[in-house]
Amino acid sequence: MAHRIAHAGLAGKIRSASDAAALIQDGMTVGMSGFTGSGYPKAVPLALADRITASHAAGNPFRVKIWTGASTGPELDGALAKADGIEFRLPYNSDPYARERINKGEMQYFDMHLSQVAPMAWQGFLGELDMAVIEVTGITPDGELIPSASVGNNKTWIDRAKGVILEVNSWQNPALEGMHDIYYGTALPPHRVPIPLVRADQRIGQPTFRCDPAKVVAVVETDSPDRNAPFTAPDATAHAIAGHLIDFLTHEVKMGRLPASLLPLQSGVGNIANAVLNGLIDAPFDNMTSYTEVIQDGMLDLLESGKLRMASATAFSLSPEAAARLNADMHRFRDKMILRPQEISNHPELVRRLGCIAMNGLIEADIYGNVNSTHLMGSRIQNGIGGSGDFARNAYLSVFLTPSTAKGGAISAIVPHCSHVDHITQDVQVIVTEQGLADLRGLAPRQRAAVIIANCAHPDYRPMLEDYYARAMKGSFGLQSPMLPGEALAWHQRYIETGTMRG
Ligand code: COA
Repeated sequence: MAHRIAHAGLAGKIRSASDAAALIQDGMTVGMSGFTGSGYPKAVPLALADRITASHAAGNPFRVKIWTGASTGPELDGALAKADGIEFRLPYNSDPYARERINKGEMQYFDMHLSQVAPMAWQGFLGELDMAVIEVTGITPDGELIPSASVGNNKTWIDRAKGVILEVNSWQNPALEGMHDIYYGTALPPHRVPIPLVRADQRIGQPTFRCDPAKVVAVVETDSPDRNAPFTAPDATAHAIAGHLIDFLTHEVKMGRLPASLLPLQSGVGNIANAVLNGLIDAPFDNMTSYTEVIQDGMLDLLESGKLRMASATAFSLSPEAAARLNADMHRFRDKMILRPQEISNHPELVRRLGCIAMNGLIEADIYGNVNSTHLMGSRIQNGIGGSGDFARNAYLSVFLTPSTAKGGAISAIVPHCSHVDHITQDVQVIVTEQGLADLRGLAPRQRAAVIIANCAHPDYRPMLEDYYARAMKGSFGLQSPMLPGEALAWHQRYIETGTMRG
C-alpha cells in the first residue's frame, strides 16, 4: 500500500477509520465521494455509523448532513441510515434504508439535478461544508489525488471543505490513473466562460485532483470492492423496447435527421437502459460515442464490440462480473474512457452543444407526455431525478423508456395525469414501451394523447384510457390538455385501494 501514498507528508497522516470518523462531529455537513455505487468511501462512514449508534444508545443525539455525487453503497447510505445518523441528504439516493427513512419523514432529502450540485455549492446556496471524505486510488509524490471509480462532486468537496479525509482504496485498479479529466475552469458569474469541449472524446482538464495537503486531516487505507450490483438479463419486454428504439433510430438516420454514427448517447440507470445498449451491438450503427453519466455493463459490451468508439461519463456502475472484466483489461479500455466531474458530464451547455441522444427510464408517463421519474403515488420517492433532467431538457433527442405496466401488470405506466411531474411535456420527445413507440415531436397535446394511448399503453389499459379521454373531451374546463381532475387523481388512488402499493 505504501506506494499508493507517495507523498511523505500525507503518508504521515495515516489513521484508523475510527480515528478519522472521530473528527466528524454532530451537526456537521460532510461531502462524501460516490456515484451510482462506485468510488464511495467504505471505512469511515461505517466507523461513523458505529459511533452514531453508540451515541444514540448513550442518549446523545448525533446526526450529520450528507452530500454526495449520487447513490453510494450499503457501507455509506445504508449504514448511516440504519444508525439514524442522517439529518439531511442530497442529491440522489437509491439505498433502501435511506429511502424508508425519507418516506417515513425521518430524513430531509433535497433531490437535485446532478449538474447543479457543484455550482450551487460554489454559489453558497447550500451552506458551509465542514468535512470531505473522498475515496481515491492513490496519492502522487506531489500530493495530487488520483481519482477512483467515480469523480462525481469530489473536486468541489475537496476545494470547499474545511477538512479532508482521504480513503486510499487498494481494491481500485492503479491503471485508473490517467483515465480522468478534471476541469478546473469553472467560475461564478459574471466571470463564467464557455466550457471548451466540442467533442465527447476531448480532454480539457488534468488527470488528478489538486488538494492542499495541509487541509488533509486523516488518510485511511482500505481494500474494499465497490457495490457493483448485478443487472438482470434482458427479458422479452426489454428486447421489444430496445427493438422499437433501434428501428426508430435507423429510420432517423435514413431520413437524414441523425448521422450514421448517431450522436453521443446518454443512457440512464436500470435494466431497460442496459438492454438498449446491448441491442445496439447488433444495430447498423458504427463508430458511436457516448456522453453520459455512468458506464454500465452494456456500455462496456458496446466498447468491446468495437461499435462504440469511446465513452465519457462521471462513474462506473457495473455488475461484479463486468467490474472484474474491466479490471482485468483496464489498460485496453482506459484509452476509450474518460471520467469527468458530474458538473461537466451532465452540463446543460455541453449536452446541448454535443447533441446527446438521451435515453432514460420512467415510473409513469401521462397521455400528454409528461413524465414522472421519481415518485410513486405522487408522494413516495423511489430514487430521485438524477441526471435525467440535465439530459432530457437539453438533448438533441429526448427518449423515455418503460415497460407499459408495473407490478406484474397491476398498474399501467401510462396514466391520464402523472401523480408527480419531473419532465414536462416539452422535454419529452419520444416514449417507448414494449407495445410500441410514440414520436411526439411537433405534436400538440391532443395529438400526443392519441399516439401515446394507441402506441404505448398496454391493451389491458387502452380501453380505460380511451374512455377517460373521450369523457375528458366532453367535461374538461378547457380542451388544450383535456382533464377531469378528480378522476385523473382517482386513477392513482385505485392502486392504494387494491393494495398494490402497500409495502
Ligand atoms: N407504479 C408503481 N410502481 C412502479 C411504477 C409505477 N408506474 N413503475 C415502476 N414502479 C416500481 C417498480 O415496481 C419497482 O418497485 P420494486 O423495487 O418494489 O420492485 C421500482 O418502481 C423500480 O422499478 P424498475 O422497473 O425496477 O425500474 P428501473 O430499474 O427501470 O428504473 C426508474 C426506473 C424510473 C426508477 C429509474 O430509471 C430512475 O430512478 N430514474 C430516475 C433517475 C434517472 O433517470 N437517472 C438517469 C440519468 S443519467
